[in-house]
Amino acid sequence: MCGIVGYVGDKKSLEVLVGGLRRLEYRGYDSAGVAVIDDHGELGVAKKSGKLVKLTDELAAHPIGDGRAGIGHTRWATHGGPTDVNAHPHLGDDGKLALIHNGIIENFSELKAELLAEGYSFTSETDTEVAAALLGREYRATGDLRAAFQSTVGRLDGAFTLLALHSDEPNLVVGARRNSPLVIGIGDGENFLGSDVAAFVQYTRTAMAVGQDQIVAITPESVTVTDFAGAPVEMETFQVEWDAAAADKGGWSSFMAKEVAEQPDAVANTLRGRIVGDAVVVPELTAFGDEVLAGIRRIVIIACGTAAYAGMTAQYAIEKWARVPVTIELSHEFRYREPVITDDTLVISISQSGETMDTLMAVKYAREAGARVISICNTQGATIPRESDAVVYTHAGPEVAVASTKAFVAQITALYLFGLHLARVRGTLSAAEQAVQVAELIAVPAKIATVLESSASIAQLAHWMADTRSVLFLGRNVGFPIAMEGALKLKELAYIHAEGFAAGELKHGPIALIEPGQPVFVVVPSPRGSASLHPKVVSNIQEIRARGARVIAIAEQGDAAVLPFADEVVHIPLAAPLFEPLLAVIPLQIFAMELSIAKGLDVDQPRNLAKSVTVE
Ligand code: G6P
Repeated sequence: MCGIVGYVGDKKSLEVLVGGLRRLEYRGYDSAGVAVIDDHGELGVAKKSGKLVKLTDELAAHPIGDGRAGIGHTRWATHGGPTDVNAHPHLGDDGKLALIHNGIIENFSELKAELLAEGYSFTSETDTEVAAALLGREYRATGDLRAAFQSTVGRLDGAFTLLALHSDEPNLVVGARRNSPLVIGIGDGENFLGSDVAAFVQYTRTAMAVGQDQIVAITPESVTVTDFAGAPVEMETFQVEWDAAAADKGGWSSFMAKEVAEQPDAVANTLRGRIVGDAVVVPELTAFGDEVLAGIRRIVIIACGTAAYAGMTAQYAIEKWARVPVTIELSHEFRYREPVITDDTLVISISQSGETMDTLMAVKYAREAGARVISICNTQGATIPRESDAVVYTHAGPEVAVASTKAFVAQITALYLFGLHLARVRGTLSAAEQAVQVAELIAVPAKIATVLESSASIAQLAHWMADTRSVLFLGRNVGFPIAMEGALKLKELAYIHAEGFAAGELKHGPIALIEPGQPVFVVVPSPRGSASLHPKVVSNIQEIRARGARVIAIAEQGDAAVLPFADEVVHIPLAAPLFEPLLAVIPLQIFAMELSIAKGLDVDQPRNLAKSVTVE
């Protein structure tokens, strides 16, 4: 949610800002704006509701001066609707300063009342305009942007990343963050700020992550970071692993199409460096401490959305391999029910972005309650890894499409690596059993590539079903979270009512939904599973078929038993049962994407959704 970019340097600011906002579009937004100090020290502002093209049209119709410093913003509306007036930047000090904001200022009503009493007036409904007015007032008192900014952020409660500039100090952009992301890009004679590194990776891959309650000031030649009290902070740089090309569509029709196709690499890259011989050795977990892992009595996985379904999938594997009880909980439910957390509880957070506010807050809660926290994350420099005791990065590369695909398979892969590492440390899997699982893992990328070869037939199916109003998904065991993920993808991308059920639950209610023509996807477990659920799921198929359902089965290659009962069968390669989810989810992703295309919708940026949900 909300993309933020800041720049000081020799380039034309507008180009850097608009380019940065374009790369941050994926976060989700409904309006956009920029403020630039031109070469004469004049502050120019443009802002528009709607997509970025509206802003660039506005800039073409009513140009503003360009110069060496600027800030840019894409807004996802919270306080006040997505209108031109509510769009950021907001101005203060009689139009000499501009401010942009990501987050929610919780005490904005009190501050607004204070400023109204002093004679200030407001044109927008936003909390941000209040912060801009406050900063203007402080600037008048101090005549120094850094000092004014420091006293302003000290007055704010809630979550915020703020950037500001003032025309009297034309080579300076200041920023601050609390519970909301901000990273610095280090250039040569220029510096950058961004919600994430995508904002500036085109220009520099050297970055620093601004910590909680810290303030940053950038000039072309310097970067200074302090805490909210003004004390200097030591910073570490990191190198961004991917380049600008990785965040481009590269000839694909959409980011999602590209990311779906990248899934073999996402898995292979996540495995890289974490398998030694026939065993899993995750260096980040070794550093965390084998004795700590050996003493764990319970694991609680916290996540939201697709990441939560990755956690649900891995629950089966971790329990089976490491013999530790695992529960999975939605982050936003977790911390409000006073969960029992002890110091032998391990909490695993899963987040592609590393910024999901619900998950971040749950991580903080868990650590305060005494748990150790390991995070599975795809984004370097993000907040959740920094708040955790250890992080296992997924190396899926930048995921831009709002609906998560390659991050999902990479998350399951990372969690399986965790499960096998834990099992080795705890001695719950023999070396031979560990080797079998490792071989299965290594084989996953090529098998996903095989599933991707069915894309055209799945696309055809989706195009036939473009008028469908409701789709159900059934699965059992590890197929159950995949059914729910399939339903989520369809809701997100095609705006169709979709639900995923455990197939065993069918007779306890959902079967009442079956009427002639109702499409039902069934994730069929392998007939080779040890305690085979296969015959039970085939019976379920017969039950719904008898009531008129149109059955689309995702079944293992060679599974003849489903053929007589399914209207369509999508085959996946043979894999051990725990590894089937990594294959079975692919056709469901493709189906949702193609249905979205068939309906003429925006695959990469579905309505109302944000990639990075940075408010609770
Ligand atoms: C949003 C996105 C989902 C994503 C979820 C969790 O709701 O639209 O695609 O699964 O957030 O995001 P995270 O970055 O924490 O994995």
